[in-house]
Amino acid sequence: MRREAPSAARNRQPILDVLRPHLPAEGLVLEIASGSGEHTMHFAAALPGLTFQPSDSNADARASIDDWTETLGLKNVRPAIDLDAASQEWPVKSADAIVCINMIHISPWQATLGLVAGAARLLPSGGLLYTYGPYHRDGRPTAPSNAEFDTDLRRRDPAWGIRNLEDIVALATSMGFDALNIVEMPANNLSLLFRRG
Ligand SMILES: C[S@@+](CC[C@H](N)C(=O)[O-])C[C@H]1O[C@@H](n2cnc3c(N)ncnc32)[C@H](O)[C@@H]1O
Repeated sequence: MRREAPSAARNRQPILDVLRPHLPAEGLVLEIASGSGEHTMHFAAALPGLTFQPSDSNADARASIDDWTETLGLKNVRPAIDLDAASQEWPVKSADAIVCINMIHISPWQATLGLVAGAARLLPSGGLLYTYGPYHRDGRPTAPSNAEFDTDLRRRDPAWGIRNLEDIVALATSMGFDALNIVEMPANNLSLLFRRG
């Protein structure tokens, strides 16, 4: 049941390099929309002091995650949970950091609203909310490839699409987060780091 996402193999180490200095030494890291599970596996192997809680709203993704966990024998990864970011009730009550990679553009805006609201409910003061993916800046694509990707996403589902960085920052700020850092990543993606105020 294990899945392999070529993009995850490429971006997991650059993401870990950005995340590592901002994560606590111990505690629970909740990943939203874990997909294949390869990011959680990579982070958990590199950061054994932390416990990782993967999740996804898709049952096949959860099966892939749990298969990876068992195959790699990682003791600091919990079984994947069924979590729809858009839901107002998540099946987890607290987390010390929340990570969401490549979901915001490939889900309705309600999922992003739910992600930030859920992070505001769960995280303690100072807790990290991290998102990764492509974003428009000032309403414009940052590269021709992102413009094409956006067109393709909206063709597949009109509710999907690359979001404006400024809208994400405004949403997070309105929910009590401070924008900590914006980091340019390979392939015209961005890391966004927010701290719960
Ligand atoms: C492009 S994949 C990214 C997976 C993984 N994070 C990665 O970067 O390889 C998008 C994932 O978001 C999940 N997803 C979409 N909408 C969601 C929602 N409302 N709540 C939770 N997960 C969602 C999908 O099931 C899928 O696994």
